[in-house]
This record gives sequence, structure tokens and C-alpha cells, in this order.
Amino acid sequence: MPRLTVNVDHVATVREARKGRAPDPVAAALLVELAGAHGVTVHLREDRRHVQDRDVRVLREMLALPLNLEMGLAGEVLAIACDVRPDLATLVPERRQELTTEGGLDVRRDRARVADGIVRLREAGIPVSLFVDPEPGQIEAAREAGAGCIELHTGEYANARDHERGEKLERLRVAAHEAGRSGLEVHAGHGLDYRNVVPVARIPEVAELAIGHAIVGRAVLVGMERAVREMLALVQL
Ligand code: PXP
Repeated sequence: MPRLTVNVDHVATVREARKGRAPDPVAAALLVELAGAHGVTVHLREDRRHVQDRDVRVLREMLALPLNLEMGLAGEVLAIACDVRPDLATLVPERRQELTTEGGLDVRRDRARVADGIVRLREAGIPVSLFVDPEPGQIEAAREAGAGCIELHTGEYANARDHERGEKLERLRVAAHEAGRSGLEVHAGHGLDYRNVVPVARIPEVAELAIGHAIVGRAVLVGMERAVREMLALVQL
């Protein structure tokens, strides 16, 4: 059974809509911990559209669970990671215009840059995972670049039409098997939700799933009734 790390970026997305203090992703992360998850993930994007530097630092201080910091290869973010020292750094590609991380790292093309980032993080004592598409060439390149772990991009599987989903799942299975055989720890994530997660969770080599949007989205809905009742009680006091 894989571990579950919950990505709380989108709690910060709601906060940043007003540039205020609430809802606080740190408070959400502490509830994630109470609920029994195995870890918390945040993505400190170069454009700081959701998670802020303060969130990462306070999370590191408050959270008992392992903290996984997703990040691009920008020098400034690398420096923050080396200072904060998360339990895992997951390197992802970052494009300013994208809505969310689109596609895995092209480790084959950027091998030298990725390898430099890995060395820098490793020297700070931080294990590194690379977010890659389920392609044999990328997995091999990840291993050669010095990563101990990969996170398989499940977006194509999650977005596939029904008749293509089986084939996308098979790609994930094969990639997970190859990665496991070459000694890499295997994580998976992106676009996983309450309907599509089970077949991925059953891939034997997958040790951890990273899930964010679906959980935060559901929390908004299942928490709505209570939130309205609490406000009604105040308004009609
Ligand atoms: N893994 C990585 C590397 C990601 O970039 C993201 C999105 O931030 C996730 C997992 C979580 O994806 P989702 O929010 O779709 O569950």
C-alpha cells in the first residue's frame, strides 16, 4: 500500500485570491497530519502564485510529518530549499504561463543542469526525486543524473478518455517496474482523484502518491455545510 502525501498548494491559492492570511496552508497541513496522511507537499513556484516562502519555513517548523518540497531549478528556490531542508525535494519543470505542472522534467535534454541541482541538494542533506513522464529514456536518465527517487507523472492517465485509460495505466505500470528494477524509489502523482486513484495505488512499485487538487476541492465541498451553519449561527444570534 502506498503512502499518501497531500499537496496543500491550493489552500494557498484561495488565500492569495485576497492576499490575506486565511485560509492558511499550514493550518490545513496540520489537519492533514491529524487525518493520518503520511506527508505534506508544497510547490514553491518561482512566481509565488500560491505557496510563499513563509509557508515553507513555518511548515518545516510546525509539521511532524515529512515535508516534500516541489520546486523548479531556479537558483533562488534551490537556495531556500538548502536552507529549509525538506525531507524530500521533488524537481519539476516550471513554465510561467502554465496553469499547473505540464509534463515531466526532460532529464535527457537537461541532464547536466538537473545533475547539478541534485548535487547541490544532496550536499545539503536533502534526498531528491525527479518528476518524469512514464518513459524508459527519462527514467534511465534520472538514475544516471543521480536521483534516488522518481515521481511518475500520472496526468496523461488521469486525463485520458475511457478507451485510452488502460493503455496509459499500462505505461505507468511498465515505467514503475523498470524504475523499481533499477533501484529507484517510485512515487506517482498529478490529476489523481477519487475516481481514478485505485489502479495507480495498486501498482506494486509505487511507494507514495502525491495528491492535491482533488483533496482540497473535496474539502471545500464536504466542509461547505458546516461553514454555512457556523455563519448562520452568528448572523442569527
Ligand atoms: N506531483 C507533482 C510533481 C505536481 O506538480 C503536482 C501538482 O502541483 C501534484 C503531484 C499534485 O497534483 P494534483 O494537484 O493534480 O493532485
